[in-house]
Amino acid sequence: MSALAGKVVVVTGGNSGIGKEAAIGIARAGAHVVIAARNPAKAAAALAEVESRADARGRVETIPIDLASFASVHAFADAFTAEHERLDILLNNAGGVLRKRIVTVDGHETQFQVNHLGHFLLTNLLHDALARGAPARVINVSSFAHTTARNGLDFDDLDWERRRYGRGFGVYSATKLMNILFTRELARRSDPDVLTANALHPGFVASNFAREGDLGLLGNIGMPLIRPFAISSQKGALTSIYLASSPDVAGITGQYFIKGKAVKPAAPALDDAVAARLWEMSEKLTVG
Ligand SMILES: NC(=O)c1ccc[n+]([C@@H]2O[C@H](COP(=O)([O-])OP(=O)(O)OC[C@H]3O[C@@H](n4cnc5c(N)ncnc54)[C@H](OP(=O)(O)O)[C@@H]3O)[C@@H](O)[C@H]2O)c1
Repeated sequence: MSALAGKVVVVTGGNSGIGKEAAIGIARAGAHVVIAARNPAKAAAALAEVESRADARGRVETIPIDLASFASVHAFADAFTAEHERLDILLNNAGGVLRKRIVTVDGHETQFQVNHLGHFLLTNLLHDALARGAPARVINVSSFAHTTARNGLDFDDLDWERRRYGRGFGVYSATKLMNILFTRELARRSDPDVLTANALHPGFVASNFAREGDLGLLGNIGMPLIRPFAISSQKGALTSIYLASSPDVAGITGQYFIKGKAVKPAAPALDDAVAARLWEMSEKLTVG
């Protein structure tokens, strides 16, 4: 029998790049996949592609979500729970870098909300469904970029109002650090027989990441030069698929994976007091 037969899996950003390839691998392993995507046309195209490449007709659906809007995250959770009694795996994959500081409808810097707060809220709203899918798995797609957030988090300026925005890479790195801290705190708060939480770096991947000049002029010039050294989205999805499907990681929780192996993240990602503080702050910011 396929490793994920009968399992229900949500993949945020399942319409593009690493998320789409993860959705294909996970659907191939027998799961019912919910592509959570903000753009209906892209979602419909991804659904058709995932169904056909994974030979998973009738086992893929899309539910809209815009992680830059708390109302949309609530609407996703409502729609999902109206239809599904339980959730086995939540792959928090969507995310990206923005070169300009844009404020969301909820008043937050967009990368902070999309890459961290939106997924924090989504995970909490789906917590009961995940508990019914025990042993459930939450997988957070972080990045090696978290290592450049050397000074950790500035809790007085999570929305990056006071610091220079630059090309937005500082915010991106901070949010990817948050992904690991969130993973650790979720793991600490959860019984591993009910829910495990792990984070990962997918590799340097030739996806749509920063493709539209999101990193500004330097990105426009630099990205095309370094992109040939990037791995394919298919390869970039392997650790996500491994964490979703492998029996080897049953009960493993609070870890950070690269190329299918648990490795130590940078020191700021190991600070449990900061992880707890981020959780409390995120709870306050997402209560509507
Ligand atoms: N590519 C790399 O080298 C690399 C390295 C390390 C980590 N990562 C991480 O890998 C993850 C996937 O990125 P990728 O490389 O596959 O890039 P990608 O092809 O650009 O995919 C990003 C996905 O996130 C979705 N997304 C962005 N903003 C959203 C929002 N407000 N609401 C809902 N969905 C939203 C995008 O939707 P649209 O298609 O509608 O824009 C897309 O589906 C990200 O978390 C990224 O930080 C990537």
